[in-house]
Amino acid sequence: MINTVAVDLGARSYEVRIGEGLIARAGAEIAPLLRRKRVAVVTDETVAAAHLSALTAALAAEGIASTALALPPGEGTKNWENLARCTEWLLEQKVERKDVVLALGGGVIGDLVGFSAAILRRGVRFVQLPTSLLAQVDSSVGGKTGINTAQGKNLVGAFHQPSLVLADIGVLDTLPGRDFLSGYGEVVKYGLLGDAAFFDWLEREGPALRDGDSAARLRAVTRSVEMKAGIVSRDETEDGERALLNLGHTFCHALEKATGYSDRLLHGEGVAIGCALAFELSSRLGLCSQEEPSRVRAHLRRMGMKVDLADIPGDLPGADALIALMGQDKKVVDGRLRFILARGIGQAFVTDEVPPETVRAVLDEALALRR
Ligand code: GLY
Repeated sequence: MINTVAVDLGARSYEVRIGEGLIARAGAEIAPLLRRKRVAVVTDETVAAAHLSALTAALAAEGIASTALALPPGEGTKNWENLARCTEWLLEQKVERKDVVLALGGGVIGDLVGFSAAILRRGVRFVQLPTSLLAQVDSSVGGKTGINTAQGKNLVGAFHQPSLVLADIGVLDTLPGRDFLSGYGEVVKYGLLGDAAFFDWLEREGPALRDGDSAARLRAVTRSVEMKAGIVSRDETEDGERALLNLGHTFCHALEKATGYSDRLLHGEGVAIGCALAFELSSRLGLCSQEEPSRVRAHLRRMGMKVDLADIPGDLPGADALIALMGQDKKVVDGRLRFILARGIGQAFVTDEVPPETVRAVLDEALALRR
């Protein structure tokens, strides 16, 4: 079964198709977009080993010729050097203005290739074929593209919407368990920010979904994408509501910086811990009951995820240093930290009116649990 979610953005609207076997039928899915039967595929070496031959065969079955570039795997690839390499390779492949570039991989490939497509010949179309849970539910949808620089993550980029997203949930079977659970951090985020019934459902079905239940995976990815598509359609460039998608991210980005963007903490793990801290902060500020953060933490714990600062291996800086790291975040507006807080599960809102001493108290307590 294939579910289709529309991202309504006027002339730049597109569909996200979700289901098993979409890579095997990618040729038929993509053919209607093509002016000539030729595409360039950019992927990473790990994804290429697992899925590139299936994609190439699917394209060839529809008479679509393809060439492919496999970049090294990992967050380190999302830099100026690989942006130049990818863009120049696409030019060498004689990709023209009306052609389509395919991004096959996780968030790193989607962001990098999307940015390359945005600047190539002042913008060529691209199709996202996300292969990680995180990319399927978040980064492949919504048109945020970019790279990391010495100054920080995702500080250079462009809004460039894909022309189509094909989320083949069958490929999630090949993900290492830790990567799957990291992506699940973003899935939980959608329930927490705006759909309490979805969070209830995740509490019931999360373990089955984690253990491979494909019907549950289809529903979870579809609901996540529906929520993201709705928010992006209403606020493409994050002037308001889209900021809700950053629930947990103010804490997460500080923790990622503190751990050197290493495998001590994957992005979705940081999001999950950050969501738990955001609910703790909301409860401290009297916005929601004390039961709400406990319920969030209980679900993450049951899923076998990282929940607390104590679950991050190695040293962490103190509360003040973490707050200083938050101050370098993109979400700082006029020098004020912006948080996504909640009045309850499914009721998030954006605020820059959070007393720093309350943030410090929450972090001090969370850090004390590590000792
Ligand atoms: N990942 C957050 C956003 O797309 O806005």
